[in-house]
Amino acid sequence: MNQFAPLLIDWYEHNKRELPWRQTQDPYKIWISEVILQQTRVAQGYDYYCRFIERFPDFHALAQADEDEVMKYWQGLGYYSRARNLHEAARSIDSQEYFPKTYAEVRALKGVGEYTAAAICSIAYDMPYAVVDGNVYRVLSRWMGVDTPIDTSEGKKIFAALADELLPKETPGLYNQAIMDFGALQCVPVSPKCEVCPLMDSCVAFRKGLVGELPKKKRK
Ligand code: ADE
Ligand code: SF4
Repeated sequence: MNQFAPLLIDWYEHNKRELPWRQTQDPYKIWISEVILQQTRVAQGYDYYCRFIERFPDFHALAQADEDEVMKYWQGLGYYSRARNLHEAARSIDSQEYFPKTYAEVRALKGVGEYTAAAICSIAYDMPYAVVDGNVYRVLSRWMGVDTPIDTSEGKKIFAALADELLPKETPGLYNQAIMDFGALQCVPVSPKCEVCPLMDSCVAFRKGLVGELPKKKRK
């Protein structure tokens, strides 16, 4: 039995960012936050999220709004198809009267890919879906010392399987948010804070002096 998830979660409890979408289990609000964070940094997305949720507190409010007004609340964030997709999806949710409850239904929402569906289902519903993105590739490749290039189909398969294996099935939402923050604050791309890392003792890359080499990419 490895200690990865418990150590990561313990690190998170002491180092997490206090963010407004972490004060809720409302799938609608988590959906909005995840779509904002698809292409926007937390620091920039924070105020947009707060204003958006204040004006459109639930899917019904969003569905009822004019497209022009929705776009106004997105002004400056870029990737405007995100706002159009949110609006369209809110209207389809509103017509069935409840927020999707299964992974398949969440994944089918316009503008929701695998990462976003896993984030929503794990955080809002505690369903066992692991998020996999650049942060996760970096943390897992280093901690496990895996040098398969991440930009290959083999790499994607391997890291998706590792992510599933390491996911604690009792607390997937907590774990997913922990690995997001760990990758953003601790195991960062350049000069990760290995000397003060709770995973140092079990980190293969650290032990072998390979931290700077991982994750590997085929194409630079
Ligand atoms: N990036 C994507 N989803 C996030 C979340 N829920 N919290 C912080 N950063 C994120
Ligand atoms: Fe990342 Fe360094 Fe911690 Fe390993 S020891 S998990 S490379 S921060």
